[in-house]
Amino acid sequence: MRIGVLTGGSDCPGLNAGIRALVRKGVQEHGDSFVGFRDGWLGVLGDNTVPLDIPAVRGTLPRGGTILGSSRTDPVAVPDGPDRIRRTLDAHRLDALVVFGGINTLARAAVLADRYGIPCVGVPKTIDNDIAGTDYTIGFDTAVNVATEAIDRLHTTAESHKRVLVVEVMGRSTGWIAVHAGLAGGANCVLIPERPFDLDEVCAHVTSRFRATYSPIVVVADSAQPRGGGVELEGLSGVGEWLGNAIEHRTGHEARTTVLGHIQRGGTPSPQDRWLATRFGLHAVDAAHDGAWGSMVALRGTDIVRTPLAAAVAAPKCVDAARYAENEIFFG
Ligand code: F6P
Repeated sequence: MRIGVLTGGSDCPGLNAGIRALVRKGVQEHGDSFVGFRDGWLGVLGDNTVPLDIPAVRGTLPRGGTILGSSRTDPVAVPDGPDRIRRTLDAHRLDALVVFGGINTLARAAVLADRYGIPCVGVPKTIDNDIAGTDYTIGFDTAVNVATEAIDRLHTTAESHKRVLVVEVMGRSTGWIAVHAGLAGGANCVLIPERPFDLDEVCAHVTSRFRATYSPIVVVADSAQPRGGGVELEGLSGVGEWLGNAIEHRTGHEARTTVLGHIQRGGTPSPQDRWLATRFGLHAVDAAHDGAWGSMVALRGTDIVRTPLAAAVAAPKCVDAARYAENEIFFG
C-alpha cells in the first residue's frame, strides 16, 4: 500500500513515536511506502510533502513535537478542499491517509471519509484527552506528568511563604488535566469548565487549609469559569491570574499564580505516551490494510480497538460528576 500521513491541530508529545511505529510496521511487515504531508491538512491541500521512510523516523521515539509540522487548517471550509485532497492522493497514488488529530482534525477526517469517500484512518492525539471512544489520547499523560511535577514543586514554596499557589493548566473545554494532576499532586481545590465554581467555596477551602500546616494549591483549568458569570480577562494572562487576585483580596492570604501553558505540550513524551502512540501507530497500519475508512484507533482498558470517527468526535468527552467527586474528597 501507499499511505499518506499528517498531524493536525495542536502538537503534543508522542506524535513522532506514533509515526515511527506506523512506518516501521508498514514497511517491514507489509512492504508499504509512505508520504508525509507538512503542516496538517494544509500540506495535503497544497501537495507539500516530506519523505517518510525508516531512516526518516529513526531516533524520533523520544522527540516531542511532530516531524511533519502541524496547522489548524480546515480542509472542508476551503473552496474545493475535498477535491484538492482527492487530487493530491491520486497524484501520489495513495491508498490511505492516516490522520493524527484532535477533535477538530479528526472531525474533518470523518467528513472526508464518510461524505467524500477519502480513505482516512484516525489516530487520537491531544493533551486535553477530550476525545470520546478512547480511554486516553496521545500526549495527555505527559501533560499530566508536567502539571503534577509543577504542583509538587509549588507545595514547598507555598508552605515556606504561607501563600496560596494557583496553578493554571490547559484543557480547552474540559478539565481532564486538572482532575488528574490535581488528584496526583494533592491539590486543595480543582476547578474545571464542566463545573462552574463558587468563589466563596474556593476561599473557604483555602482558609481551611491554612488552619493546617499546609498551604493551599488551587488547580484551575484555563477555561474554568465562576458560577453565574464570565470572568473579564482583559489585561490578565488568564483565569488563573484573576483567581489568584480574587483569593488574595477575599481571604487576605498572599497568592501567586503559575500558568503552565505550552510547557505541558512541549518536550519529550512520557513512557506511557510512547507506549500508547507506538501501539496506535501499529494498529493504524492494520486498520488501513483492512480498509477501515472512517474509523479511529482507540484505547479501551489495555486493548487497542477501532471505533467510528464520526461518533468519537460528535461531542467532547467531559469530566462527569462522579469523577469530579473523587477530587472533591480532598478539597479544603
Ligand atoms: O488542544 C490543546 C491545547 O493545548 C489546549 O489545551 C489549549 O486550549 C490550546 O491547545 C492552545 O492552543 P494554542 O497552541 O493555539 O495556543
